Amino acid sequence: MTDQTAASQPAPAAKMALPDAQTVTSVRHYTDRLFAFRVTRPASLRFRSGEFVMIGLLGDNGKPLLRAYSIASPSWDEELEFYSIKVQDGPLTSKLQHIQPGDQVILRPKPVGTLVHDALLPGKRLYLFSTGTGFAPFASLLRDPDTYERFEEVIVTHTCRGVDELTYGREMIEGLKSDELMQELLGDGLDKLRYYPTTTREESAKMGRITTLIENGELFDDLGVPPLNPETDRAMICGSLAFNVDLKALLEKAGLTEGANSDPQQFVVEKAFVGEGV
Ligand SMILES: Cc1cc2nc3c(=O)[nH]c(=O)nc-3n(C[C@H](O)[C@H](O)[C@H](O)COP(=O)(O)OP(=O)(O)OC[C@H]3O[C@@H](n4cnc5c(N)ncnc54)[C@H](O)[C@@H]3O)c2cc1C
Ligand SMILES: NC(=O)c1ccc[n+]([C@@H]2O[C@H](COP(=O)([O-])OP(=O)(O)OC[C@H]3O[C@@H](n4cnc5c(N)ncnc54)[C@H](OP(=O)(O)O)[C@@H]3O)[C@@H](O)[C@H]2O)c1
Repeated sequence: MTDQTAASQPAPAAKMALPDAQTVTSVRHYTDRLFAFRVTRPASLRFRSGEFVMIGLLGDNGKPLLRAYSIASPSWDEELEFYSIKVQDGPLTSKLQHIQPGDQVILRPKPVGTLVHDALLPGKRLYLFSTGTGFAPFASLLRDPDTYERFEEVIVTHTCRGVDELTYGREMIEGLKSDELMQELLGDGLDKLRYYPTTTREESAKMGRITTLIENGELFDDLGVPPLNPETDRAMICGSLAFNVDLKALLEKAGLTEGANSDPQQFVVEKAFVGEGV
């Protein structure tokens, strides 16, 4: 893992004249496929925790090359954080993975998305189901006090192929639980927030696809909670298309209905990336 912060870097060279430019303040690489970075926040940008924006760089043709990115930081944060894949030959991320503090990225200040509290009916327990970089919108929601004010219990699951791919999420949760301001919201024993990481292709404490662990009941047994119930449970899903489709079917089988900003219901879904991911 490598860290770079603006303070440890030489002053940036003359800035490019990018439209909607923001300055990178820190970059951290987690694996050869994953990194996170923070950028300055436009003074006028207001967003709801869980939403995404378009960000990018200038392409070789001089035109903005933009992709959808979930904002991983909460709405109260002074900066914006993003958690990103590195696709070897990906038009954007083959370049984006080389950004350094002081560099500029383009950020279109028009946040949108369905992984927001407004798209869910009130409930008792909130499930956040993620795979891979699908954890990003939940990193925002989990750091938002509103999440704990709305629900009695918050369960976040993160499934990746390997253990290293869980690091960003694990460290974020650990940071939250050691933050004095958050501790008050997380209740005695900090057990209002339950973290359930699993791996599928490398040995770890808990192995298996979350869909399998729901179907065989292990998730509920491990956490000591009742099976999914539309009366009490609300959920957000963010992963590959295949993951979203399979999990949505399980929630619907349990009697939960999909919602949207215009029609709040019992669960909401958003793709972590376009493509099959299978
Ligand atoms: C609503 C939404 C939110 C998104 N939020 C994020 C985010 O927070 N972080 C993030 O890294 N990406 C996110 N993405 C994906 C992102 O928009 C880009 O696809 C990604 O940055 C790769 O861009 P690229 O130009 O390098 O490759 P692309 O041409 O966009 O993608 C090439 C291929 O790489 C694979 N791929 C792309 N993104 C991912 C990913 N995140 N995880 C695994 N495989 C992937 C797919 O198979 C895809 O077909 C989001 C996508 C959507 C639709
Ligand atoms: N992660 C890597 O180390 C790696 C390396 C090189 C290339 N890639 C490529 O990058 C792309 C994305 O890989 P990724 O690992 O980020 O995402 P991914 O393939 O979507 O897998 C992420 C996690 O989600 C699980 N999953 C996938 N589909 C599911 C479903 N339908 N229901 C329940 N769980 C499901 C996977 O379990 P399973 O393991 O059981 O599928 C894995 O644990 C893929 O095309 C992959 O080939 C990945």
